[in-house]
Amino acid sequence: MIQKIVVVGAGTMGHGIAEVAALSGFRVGVIDVSWDFLNRAKDRIKESVVRLYEKGQLKEKAEDILARIEFNTSYDIAKDADFAIEAVPENLELKKKVFTTLDEIAPPHAILATNTSSIPISDIAEATKRKEKVIGMHFFNPPVIMKLVEVIPSKYTSEDVTNITVDLAKKMNKIPVRLKYEIPGFVSNRIFIRLLQEACREVESGEETIEEVDSAARNKLKLPMGLFELADYVGLDVVVDIWNVLTTRGTPDVKCSMYRNKVNEKNLGVKTGKGFYSYPSPGKYSKVQLPNESKTDPAKLISLAVNEASWMIENQIVNAKDVDTVMIYGFNFPKGLLEMADELGLDNIYKYLKEIYAKGYEAYKPTSILEKMVNERKLGKKTGEGFYKY
Ligand code: 3HC
Repeated sequence: MIQKIVVVGAGTMGHGIAEVAALSGFRVGVIDVSWDFLNRAKDRIKESVVRLYEKGQLKEKAEDILARIEFNTSYDIAKDADFAIEAVPENLELKKKVFTTLDEIAPPHAILATNTSSIPISDIAEATKRKEKVIGMHFFNPPVIMKLVEVIPSKYTSEDVTNITVDLAKKMNKIPVRLKYEIPGFVSNRIFIRLLQEACREVESGEETIEEVDSAARNKLKLPMGLFELADYVGLDVVVDIWNVLTTRGTPDVKCSMYRNKVNEKNLGVKTGKGFYSYPSPGKYSKVQLPNESKTDPAKLISLAVNEASWMIENQIVNAKDVDTVMIYGFNFPKGLLEMADELGLDNIYKYLKEIYAKGYEAYKPTSILEKMVNERKLGKKTGEGFYKY
């Protein structure tokens, strides 16, 4: 039975995951390299728990929840851990070090999970002597608010460990989506990056402006944030890391340099106070102002992401419902991506894919299942069938 969870890395994701674990009744240990990081995490967790308490969303007192969390720069607090979640920066060598240390210190029964958004779980597992007990447990920012957790078994992970992790996600009041097997970027970030790539292509080719794209995302697709705004929120360095992992592991690239340029300028988004937009101070997000009107066609904006989703369905990694669960609970979409595609018309989506593919963008080549749906007049809501039946 899992009683104590240790989180390694107290940054944006780590502190939030630790908070979620404490809110769900677990004893929690947070480890980081300096007391500066730990104290900052302590303050952020306190602020968030107090906010939830004041809104009447907690059954316990804020102090009781906070008292369950211990902080330390030493891994000694992992000695009695049943489950560990690593959330350190996206660097394989660093992650391997963390896993080797956890493997030495945590008890033999402990499961070691990584919250990586891009690094292959199997590569991380190879740093331990318990490869079958290493798994991906991918949370979304902000972890306290976002309901989704992707559970990703590596080629070594045992079925038991996968089941325990799915169960733990439920005990943490999250909605788990379990991948059949590991693919770079998982489901969430493959779709996320495709949305950002098309946004970028539209702006760099002069078809739209950043504000027009973001206005369409917010006002037409009803997403909580614009796409460039979301990239700023997640961190442009993180975006570029995921992008690189995808393209170096076989996903066709979309030539576009806007995100990379921002990283080169050291403007990483909300965390540095400036990215595509400016924020009140480093680390402090506030909603960006956008025009109400925009000429951007939402069918074009989601076309590449829909193609990616249909690739994952074609390869039996997930089904349409799973894709939509990921986007609703991981990104707060008001409805699923494929539900949106069905509403906007698969013939429309297909038309844009063909058009952009013809300009030399390999990634836009429509998948066979999308082509088949269009040929069979399964165009979505208007013909009674698309990804779903109506
Ligand atoms: N603790 C407690 N409560 C919090 C909180 C926190 N840390 N952060 C926000 N909240 C609460 C607020 O108090 C507010 O509650 P209320 O409605 O009762 O007043 C509610 O959440 C909404 O927050 P705000 O009013 O401050 O701001 P918004 O309405 O603009 O919502 C948002 C902010 C929830 C972040 C929303 O914009 C959103 O859902 N954005 C999309 C986020 C997203 O897509 N995340 C996934 C990124 S991808 C990822 O993480 C994967 C990685 O691998 C890259």
